[in-house]
Amino acid sequence: MSRAKRKLDHIQYALNDKPSGMTGFDDVQIVHQSLPDSSVEEVSLHSEVGGLNLSSPFFINAMTGGGGEKTLEINASLARAAKETGIAVSVGSQMSAIKDKQERRTYSIVRKENPDGVIFGNIGSEATLSQALEAVEMIEADALQIHLNVIQELAMPEGDRSFNGALERISHIANELSIPVIVKETGFGISREAAAKLNDTAVTAIDAGGYGGTNFSSIENSRQQRKKLFFDHWGIPTAASIVETVSVTEKTVLASGGIQSSIDILKSLILGASAAGIAGKFLRILTEDGESALIKEIEYVNEDLVMMMTALGCRNVSSLHRAPVVISGDLYHWLHSRGLH
Ligand code: FNR
Repeated sequence: MSRAKRKLDHIQYALNDKPSGMTGFDDVQIVHQSLPDSSVEEVSLHSEVGGLNLSSPFFINAMTGGGGEKTLEINASLARAAKETGIAVSVGSQMSAIKDKQERRTYSIVRKENPDGVIFGNIGSEATLSQALEAVEMIEADALQIHLNVIQELAMPEGDRSFNGALERISHIANELSIPVIVKETGFGISREAAAKLNDTAVTAIDAGGYGGTNFSSIENSRQQRKKLFFDHWGIPTAASIVETVSVTEKTVLASGGIQSSIDILKSLILGASAAGIAGKFLRILTEDGESALIKEIEYVNEDLVMMMTALGCRNVSSLHRAPVVISGDLYHWLHSRGLH
């Protein structure tokens, strides 16, 4: 199967595959504060990743590129929505354009549509330093995401079967790049053990990328005869993965995987993330309701976050990290059995 066809399949299957919602956020209850001593105009949504300013603590996460007109159109819309609202946007894996120069336009359109915005490049952990540099140059990236997707590769018949040396390659790239490097999971979650390994490198940020949203095992299994269903329920729920990651690093932690609403973003920030990435939900709004609906949604999320931060008496994202919550259910048991609660 061609790479272009696979990209289009991924979009279609991601749209058809309803997220399980098993992120763990339902097990996080925010403790209401009746005397917040705050007002709406004092709240700042500003956040940062390695000195890079984000005007909102959420961003459009990596989705697509390569694959022709359809992906070009999606990327152009995502870039315009990001420009209009001032939020950061990531492109999908740039490996296809590194291998086939004709595909570059489906990525460079993002910079063209959003010349001054914060844009993250994206490559896999199989990439070499020179490929990482090429990805950065291709879109004048402000930061580079390196994705970890062992489960998706194993679930694909044509996927990679060796994952040796990824940490060394990541470490080398992070040492050499002059922009922030973000290591992200793609829906199966960063564990405390993986985060500890990344903590010993020069990467700037770790995106927990947990379970409960877009599920690339389930997507691949829908496309194949020979199904590996055991991977469909594999993974660390996003809320648990954020806490696991925060427990072993002082680096910036980001949250993604199944973020569906402003309250999921808020809970991510309270658990210790500096910003949250949203992929499937934004793709669905864009394809079902169009670009202006996506812009409206992003504006609503900004407004919602200001309201909720005012209610909690938290004027900025870092003060949210100290907001009290009660953890129950499966998340409580996960954290307890991992010695994190
Ligand atoms: C993705 N994702 C992704 N991630 C990445 O690092 N590089 C990529 O090329 C892609 N491609 C891609 C295509 C499509 C169609 C989707 C929906 C997603 C993964 C994405 O960034 C994110 O990690 C997961 O989708 C989980 O987040 P959501 O979708 O639950 O918000």
